[in-house]
Amino acid sequence: MFKAANGNKLILAPIDLTKPHLHILDIGTYDGTFLVDLSNNFIPSSARQTDSILGIDLFDAHFPAHPSEGMRFQIQNFLEPWPQELLGSFDLVHQRLMLAGAGRNTRANLTQTLRLVKPGGWIQLVEAEQAIGPNDGPAMQQFLLLMGELFGFIGVPMTYAHELAQWLEEEGFEEVETRVVPIPYGCRQPDAELREKGYSSMSVGLQGKLKHTKMIPGGLKSLDAAELEMLAPRLIKEMEERGAEYVMRYAWGRKPVA
Ligand SMILES: C[S@@+](CC[C@H](N)C(=O)[O-])C[C@H]1O[C@@H](n2cnc3c(N)ncnc32)[C@H](O)[C@@H]1O
Repeated sequence: MFKAANGNKLILAPIDLTKPHLHILDIGTYDGTFLVDLSNNFIPSSARQTDSILGIDLFDAHFPAHPSEGMRFQIQNFLEPWPQELLGSFDLVHQRLMLAGAGRNTRANLTQTLRLVKPGGWIQLVEAEQAIGPNDGPAMQQFLLLMGELFGFIGVPMTYAHELAQWLEEEGFEEVETRVVPIPYGCRQPDAELREKGYSSMSVGLQGKLKHTKMIPGGLKSLDAAELEMLAPRLIKEMEERGAEYVMRYAWGRKPVA
């Protein structure tokens, strides 16, 4: 869905992926879908090198059982210090839908992550704006209220994605650019397969978030129990009939050479 919303591009940073021996890191890689797609469809096989593409995640349960040539996966907590040998070693660091996991330390966590980038290398960050489309309906608005309360609970400002480009500039990164990318869901998603994936990813994501709401002392304030229980089916129905947009923020920049 991300790729389709970007005109079939995974990387918006202007890195030359045909250059041989690029070292690439995906932080919070889950099942490596991003890296597998990048490697299979955007990097010529002649440019791949043994162990030059690394995916890390807190859990290995979903790592590919048989990673393809040049690719490896390892367990690493992105809240812990990075292994010394990884510092300054990547031509491209990609991190998507992760930073909120750093809680109140979002900004400091990014500073640590930037140490992984090689001088002259790129970082691309993708985070949810926590915004919906102007024509979105009441169920999407309630979804956003729920997200707002969850973010308040973990101490992350809802608007942190807006700041990504500024943070990169403050860290001395160059050629910093940012782009807002609305991801279409439901009847606004033109691709039938992606439309179905959108319903399932929204349902699975919402189930996880509903579990987390139970940890908020005193429960949610913006939705009552009945509204919470009906939110998932209402969201799906609204997406089918009216469609929805969940807005993403891309930001990228290059580490100076000297
Ligand atoms: C929202 S998913 C994003 C997955 C992928 N980046 C994407 O955009 O499709 C978050 C991922 O981060 C991983 N994760 C959560 N906490 C982590 C941590 N402290 N260190 C490393 N990975 C973590 C989860 O296991 C999960 O795979």
